Amino acid sequence: MVDVDVGLSDDAGLLDAILSIASDLDLEGVLRRIVAAACGLTDAQYGALGVLDPGGRVLAQFVTHGLTDAQEDLIGSRPGGQGVLGLLITDPRPIRLADLGVHAKSFGFPDHHPPMHSFLGVPIRVRGLVFGNLYMTEKRSAPEFTERDERLLSSLAAAAGVAIDNARLHERLGELALFADRERIARDLHDTVIQRLFAVGLSLQGLARIVDPPTAAERIEAAVDELDLTIADIRSTIFALQLRSETGMRAEITRAVTEARDALGFLPRIQFEGPVESSVEPGVAEVATAVVREALSNIARHARATRADVVIAASGAELRLNITDDGIGIRRSSPTGGSGLRNMAGRAEQLGGVLDVRSEPGEGTTLTWRIPL
Ligand SMILES: Nc1ncnc2c1ncn2[C@@H]1O[C@H](COP(=O)(O)OP(=O)(O)O)[C@@H](O)[C@H]1O
Ligand SMILES: [Mg+2]
Repeated sequence: MVDVDVGLSDDAGLLDAILSIASDLDLEGVLRRIVAAACGLTDAQYGALGVLDPGGRVLAQFVTHGLTDAQEDLIGSRPGGQGVLGLLITDPRPIRLADLGVHAKSFGFPDHHPPMHSFLGVPIRVRGLVFGNLYMTEKRSAPEFTERDERLLSSLAAAAGVAIDNARLHERLGELALFADRERIARDLHDTVIQRLFAVGLSLQGLARIVDPPTAAERIEAAVDELDLTIADIRSTIFALQLRSETGMRAEITRAVTEARDALGFLPRIQFEGPVESSVEPGVAEVATAVVREALSNIARHARATRADVVIAASGAELRLNITDDGIGIRRSSPTGGSGLRNMAGRAEQLGGVLDVRSEPGEGTTLTWRIPL
């Protein structure tokens, strides 16, 4: 929830800043916008956002604002988190200083660093954990940052935490888009992102009732409408994700396995290995699904098994299906009346592959169906 504990006249500026942060979904972009918005809001000449490494002890990333590229090059190495920056890491509470240079913890500046005196730093938390810190220096219009700046920056940091969280989720969505468990992503979007947007919308609505002048209330209401539209967009994305998750080999095979449960009396284990979804064409996926169905139906009808395992493994070169049961095994004497096994072998051959059947009486059966990709 965004903490909006600031003077009423500051709301419009804060709102602008929050909206500008949230308009980007790329994490790097979000971080840049946060620093720029923070500098604008507190009238700082320089600003930086230090991102803590996963261990939470040093700064893994340092995004700056106000320095030219040439200045950055001259300064060279980025701070790792010594001095005052480190103080904020070990004790994540706002720090406001008139002169950075005389502070006891100050580590000094590297060569070519522009002079910096006034300082304001606040932590940014994402889901309760310190993600990093916002550092402002050199207030332009006054010798020091004020208490008001500190409150504004803290409010901005709260909104920044939500924006960072969303951007991370979005990045993860991109990474997973190829294989992913879309169902779970859809749930995540619904349970976290939408809930958070709702929370922000509610707090803004509360704000709209108490602000002065009316123009500010109008703008806040416009922002709430925008949030509602965003929520609607995400809803349709979730819908599309769920639709897509119903096709594709993973989904098809998972469904075949789930459907075999009643006939078997137990739910087989299922395991996917490698880039199953992206390396198998739809036609091949259909055949593979039919093989799994037939193998499970054989287990249900002939094996008297208590468990079955289905493994679907794709490497760059081949697709392998393994269906194992712990049943009575295929008896050599049993007439191979049916055509199930013959069909499986035939389909493998058509695709340049083989079916291998291993079975000892009393020791279960393992089918290995493999084809080159
Ligand atoms: N998992 C299994 N466990 C035990 N016996 C099996 C298994 N799979 C197949 N069999 C035996 O092999 C025979 C041939 O199977 P299949 O070709 O699928 O024909 P159908 O299922 O129509 O009998 C079956 O009749 C059965 O005796
Ligand atoms: Mg059969």
